[in-house]
Amino acid sequence: MRRPVFRRRSGRALRVTALTALTALLGSATAGPAIADPAAGRSAWSAKVRSLVSAMTLDEKLTFVSGTSDPKSLGEAGYIPGVKRLGIPELRLTDGPAGVRVTAHATAMPAPVALASSFDEGLARAYGRVIGRDGRALGQDVLLAPMVNTIRVPYAGRNFETFSEDPLVSSRTVAAEVGGIQSQGLIATVKHYAENNQETDRGVFGPAVNVNVDEQTLHEIELPGFNAAIEAGAGAVMCSYNKVNGSYACENEQLLKSILKEQWGFRGWVMSDWGATHSPEAIAKGLDQEMPGDAYGPIFTAYFKEPLRTALQKGEIPTSALDQAVARILGQMERFGLLKKQSRPSRDAAGGARVAQTVAESGAVLLRNQHGALPLTGGAAKSIAVVGPTARTPLIGGGGSARVIPESAKAPLDAIKARAGSGARVDYSVGENLDGVLVPASALSPATPIDRTGGDKVPAGQSFSYSGTLTVPETGDYRLDLQTSGGSGTVTVDGKDVVTAGGFFSGSLIPTTDGLTNAPVTLKLTAGKHTLAVKTTAPADAAQSVRLAWSTPQTVKADIAAAAAAAKKATTAVVFAYDEGTEGSDRSSLSLPGNQNALIAAVAKANPRTVVVLNTGSSVSMPWLDGTAAVLDMYYPGQEGSEATARLLFGDVDPSGKLTQTFPTSEARTPVAGDPRRFPGVNLQEDYSEGIYVGYRWYDKEQVRPLFPFGHGLSYTTFSYHGLSVRPGRNGLEATFTVTNTGRRAGQEVAQLYVGAAPGVSEPQAVRSLAGFQKIALRPGESRRVRIDVSERQLSYWNSTSHRWTVGTGRRALSVGSSSADLRLNTSVYIKR
Ligand code: BGC
Repeated sequence: MRRPVFRRRSGRALRVTALTALTALLGSATAGPAIADPAAGRSAWSAKVRSLVSAMTLDEKLTFVSGTSDPKSLGEAGYIPGVKRLGIPELRLTDGPAGVRVTAHATAMPAPVALASSFDEGLARAYGRVIGRDGRALGQDVLLAPMVNTIRVPYAGRNFETFSEDPLVSSRTVAAEVGGIQSQGLIATVKHYAENNQETDRGVFGPAVNVNVDEQTLHEIELPGFNAAIEAGAGAVMCSYNKVNGSYACENEQLLKSILKEQWGFRGWVMSDWGATHSPEAIAKGLDQEMPGDAYGPIFTAYFKEPLRTALQKGEIPTSALDQAVARILGQMERFGLLKKQSRPSRDAAGGARVAQTVAESGAVLLRNQHGALPLTGGAAKSIAVVGPTARTPLIGGGGSARVIPESAKAPLDAIKARAGSGARVDYSVGENLDGVLVPASALSPATPIDRTGGDKVPAGQSFSYSGTLTVPETGDYRLDLQTSGGSGTVTVDGKDVVTAGGFFSGSLIPTTDGLTNAPVTLKLTAGKHTLAVKTTAPADAAQSVRLAWSTPQTVKADIAAAAAAAKKATTAVVFAYDEGTEGSDRSSLSLPGNQNALIAAVAKANPRTVVVLNTGSSVSMPWLDGTAAVLDMYYPGQEGSEATARLLFGDVDPSGKLTQTFPTSEARTPVAGDPRRFPGVNLQEDYSEGIYVGYRWYDKEQVRPLFPFGHGLSYTTFSYHGLSVRPGRNGLEATFTVTNTGRRAGQEVAQLYVGAAPGVSEPQAVRSLAGFQKIALRPGESRRVRIDVSERQLSYWNSTSHRWTVGTGRRALSVGSSSADLRLNTSVYIKR
């Protein structure tokens, strides 16, 4: 085999001895390490695992591959009872990506997208360690995280729960996090394998979308993160709801057998997402465990119980398939010491909180900062108008299975007040009142306000109903808020159910200031009478508070005017803006919800020193951007987010996060715009026809200017770059360059290295792709020589003819800079086979 040769621009060939490794690496992409599946050789499992499998009865094996309900549940998502007779303990499986989701308190970490934005693998490990320890302390054995699906669609509801549009950022973050989680003895489950990149038609309770994706795109964009998690030793994989190239992900032999188990040599087990199993045959196609089995009653069919038994007994499925599945689970239990008597740690709430705060600080992205508006110092810090509902009610996390219940979470307003100190004036104006106001008797007939709070709650197990009319004074948008303390409820207007409260995904993430769950709907109503019905049912074991509130065109105007007036009086206005990213649905627009665009525009008009703090999960449009002084994206910052926000605003800590996804200028200029086959799919068929051009790869190819590019993020100091040199490295290339802190404050920079397209390749090539990065801390005036290693994988593309990674030879551009669009140093190398 000829060795590849790297040449510098000068043309002088550099022969690299270590590049013999290239051959090995490429080989492993198709053949995989020599770890035999039990199908190939029984010796793959330990004597202990083999003896347990042979001692288990059919019934016992069946209970092992399908979940059931936990008699001692702490509210975790999944449970396997174990086999007492054989000393095999129970297995408890808990969500999720931002912390342990049980009914007890756990550390609510910042959203995973914030973690990824820190570009700091040390922090990703620490983040994993916190969740790992919490999980073990809270009686759990398996974590249903991390999520590593690509951010492909800006609208996707779960973008906050995952990492990036870029496979290298996803890979490095997930590998470090998996290491951290598992170092505490909690098994990590990388999810959702694969191409679960949107919520629309994800197929939990309805038909599932089929993702049509070509081989190169699959391998280059979505799979690297999963592969990195497997290489980092993740014990489990969760297959997704959707179909990929015609078959359900949980019975997709290409994904589960050929790629995961054979090519990558994965030795752990594959569990289905909750309700993503579709047949008993899936067990012969690579799915090892069905979740949640019969735990949720008849909601999901339990295929791996009676249907699997019947199929096994009829000989339609070989028993070896069941044995392998059981061995895979037992193999991981043994690896993690779960087959022996376990001692569990106690929670380290204080330690967890410290990491949560550091991640929130390091992952925050300063998107804009005109004329040094931030940090707030001097007069700017002495007179502040704080605006926005999430300033007083912290929005610490997104919705769905990633929600965590922390001991406490401070309001940003309180953190700002405390940090500003007694010498400063901090005024608050809500700007958009999400509590609404009680719908007055004058608008109702019968004329009784719907308010069963206080001493007049609906008794446990009983119902409340109201039926009459609602009269609105003028035509316009009305937000109706059904506010309850648990239980269920509906609001019907003009014969249509417009609000349903009480489901897992219903209701706002932002409770009312008196702690009720708020289920809002905005309706266009014409002036005059509308029929109105409200029906609620209290939970069986608790009385129910019920209230119907609203916002009218007048209250909206008044709230915005009051916020603008407060902003005008202050030196600085800080507006907290939010959206509610959640599992279960995609956003219908990239716009901030409600009247926030009008609110920010009005505040910025009243006070040019307006700072916008985003508590958002993914990219949002910013029609008001030009009028503002600064924008700080905190994402959903976890339980310590308020402290982190205040410290960033006042400059106690320097912002150093970078965007892991591109922010578009408008909805018409995104990789999926104008093509419903790309998103959300047509007739349940979705074509990833943009191919490898996901995120910045699309913006670069189409030469579309984004609002904020991938990798962008400002600091309170400035950095310069010089002296790029590239030479062959141990396993690819080694680039070195100098970064200098040219400002007056200490700060951190994420230096990014991009590699250009390989010439003469028939497969599509990105204009540039991130090939390495490093975060460095520099004191004012300090310079540091930075080394970034570019692995052969980063120089390779997926060759769809030979079905393997292939180094892209020829002259390749290399650029180093502060974002994908702010490239400061450029060179090229000649890569030859
Ligand atoms: C989600 C998973 C989650 C599971 C268990 C599913 O609906 O897609 O991410 O781990 O529920 O809660």
